Amino acid sequence: MTRKRVGVLISGRGSNLEALIEACKAPDYPAKIVLVISNVPDAQGLARAETALIPTLTINHKDFASRETFDAALDAALKEAKVELLCNAGFLRLHTEGFVKSWRDRHLNIHPSLLPAFKGLHTHARVLDEGAKISGCTVHFVRPEMDCGPIVAQAALPVLPGDTQESLAARVLQAEHRLYPHALRLVASGAVRVEGERVVGMTQIRDQPPIFSPPLDEEI
Ligand code: GRF
Repeated sequence: MTRKRVGVLISGRGSNLEALIEACKAPDYPAKIVLVISNVPDAQGLARAETALIPTLTINHKDFASRETFDAALDAALKEAKVELLCNAGFLRLHTEGFVKSWRDRHLNIHPSLLPAFKGLHTHARVLDEGAKISGCTVHFVRPEMDCGPIVAQAALPVLPGDTQESLAARVLQAEHRLYPHALRLVASGAVRVEGERVVGMTQIRDQPPIFSPPLDEEI
């Protein structure tokens, strides 16, 4: 098995990066992380990559006069490392159209909501404000518009009464840590592909009972 060479872009904590690093330890995992790039010099995720002996780079957006030149530097570093698949994992910069185009269908992102609902920042606060009863997370291919693009995989979970932004974020994050490695496996192995802006090819999808929230057996 040849493993796909993966680059990961981060800006902070890097817990999703860590989940991907762990997944890559499995002998049958179809991907390996060859480069982690942070746009923030002291991002915690950089230390996680260093511990795992993965090459890291800081490319600070503040050192560049424009988005174009920043993205050009990212692109050059990724090409230099012969990256084949790119994963955004808590990367807080919007890419230029040119960058997105050049990584089209080889570039994933994770977002902590059930897209297309609740795109953008402050996701959990908005989920709670709206009184949504079910939330979750999504891994999708990147397109120029923020948090848009063909959906690879999603996980859904109930919003609990009394949830705060922090408690909801923590439960969604646990799901993210399982979802991202799963989605990357699907893409890197070639099990799925983009066709007409939909991800197709999954053969293992099972019909499962719906999640009801509140549950049907709630006593009234
Ligand atoms: C995650 O919730 C991810 O969905 C969002 O940013 C957060 C990054 O967390 N895009 P971490 O840096 O992976 O811990």
